[in-house]
Amino acid sequence: MPRERLSVVVTRRLPEAVETRLSELFDVRLRDDDTPMTREELVEAVQTADVLVPTLTDTIDASLITRAGDKLKLIANYGAGVDHIDVATARQRGVLVSNTPGVLTDDTADMTMALILAVTRRIPEGMAVMQGGDWQGWAPTALLGGRASGRRLGILGMGRIGQAVARRAAAFGMQIHYHNRRRLRPEVEDALEATWWESLDQMVARMDVISINCPSTPSTFHLMNARRLKLMKRDAVIVNTSRGEVIDENALTRMIRAGEIAGAGLDVYEHGTNVNPRLRQLPNVVLLPHMGSATLEGRIEMGEKVIINIKTFEDGHRPPDQVVPSML
Ligand code: DGY
Repeated sequence: MPRERLSVVVTRRLPEAVETRLSELFDVRLRDDDTPMTREELVEAVQTADVLVPTLTDTIDASLITRAGDKLKLIANYGAGVDHIDVATARQRGVLVSNTPGVLTDDTADMTMALILAVTRRIPEGMAVMQGGDWQGWAPTALLGGRASGRRLGILGMGRIGQAVARRAAAFGMQIHYHNRRRLRPEVEDALEATWWESLDQMVARMDVISINCPSTPSTFHLMNARRLKLMKRDAVIVNTSRGEVIDENALTRMIRAGEIAGAGLDVYEHGTNVNPRLRQLPNVVLLPHMGSATLEGRIEMGEKVIINIKTFEDGHRPPDQVVPSML
C-alpha cells in the first residue's frame, strides 16, 4: 500500500518550478497570494501540517512552536538565515529545523561587490544625473569616487559568503582582512591572502570598506554599535548583505549625516521594511530591498534544497541541512 504523503504547508509563493515539484512529491498547501501569512494562519499551519516551509518573513518563535500540533516534525526553512526561528524551542519539542545554505553564496557575494562599487564609485548619483536629464558632458572633476584596487576590505564574518566576497574583492585588487570567531585554517587563509584580526575594534579602525557577512545571532546583535562605528575612518564605507540587526541603524544614519562615515550600501535593515527615513535621503547611501539572493537560479536551488531536506526526512534520515542550536 502506498504510504500517506507528508502534509507540507508553504508560507510564501515560491518559483513555479519549486511549487510544481513540491506538489508532485507531497500533499502540499501553497500560498495563493504573495503576502506573508498572518499569525492565525501560521498557527493553523503548525497545528495541521507535518512539515512547515517558512521564509525569513515569518516569525517562528517559541509561542508559535509551543502551539504546534503533534504532527509537526520538520520546519524546512526556505532560506539560509534562521534568526526568525526559535531553533532551541523547536529542538526541545522534537521538531527538526533545516535551512538552505550554500546555494545563495555566490549571488550574495556578487551583490556585496555591487554595493561596494555602487557606493565607492557613486553609481546611484550618476544614474540620478542621467535620469534627471542634467548631464552636461564629461568633466575632469565630476562625480569622483575611490578606486577599489588597493583598498583595505574588512570582512566581518568569514563563512561561505565572506570567503566568496574575499575571492571577488581580491580580483578587484582589494586587500583582504577579516574578523571571525574562529580563525580560518592556514591553507584557506593563504589561498585567500587574507589577514585575520583577533580584535574587531582594531580591524574596523584601519579598513577602507567594511562588509558585514556574519549571521544574526544574540552575539552579533549591534556588533557594529555606535562605539565601533565611531572607530571607522571618516573616508571608509560599510556594506551589509547579511542581517540589519548587526548594525545599529540609527547610529549609522547619524554618523553618515554628520560626515563621520563616508557612505553605506545596505541590502538589509534593522527593523525590516521600516527603514530609517533619513537613510533614504542620503546621496552616499545605496539602499536595496533585500535582493542579495534574488536570482532565479538561486531561488530554484533553494527550493531544491528544501525538497531534499523534506524527502530525506520522509525516508527516515536526518535532513542534510539540519540546523541545531550549537551551530548558531
Ligand atoms: C537568507 O536565505 O537568509 C537570505 O537572507 C535570503 O536572501
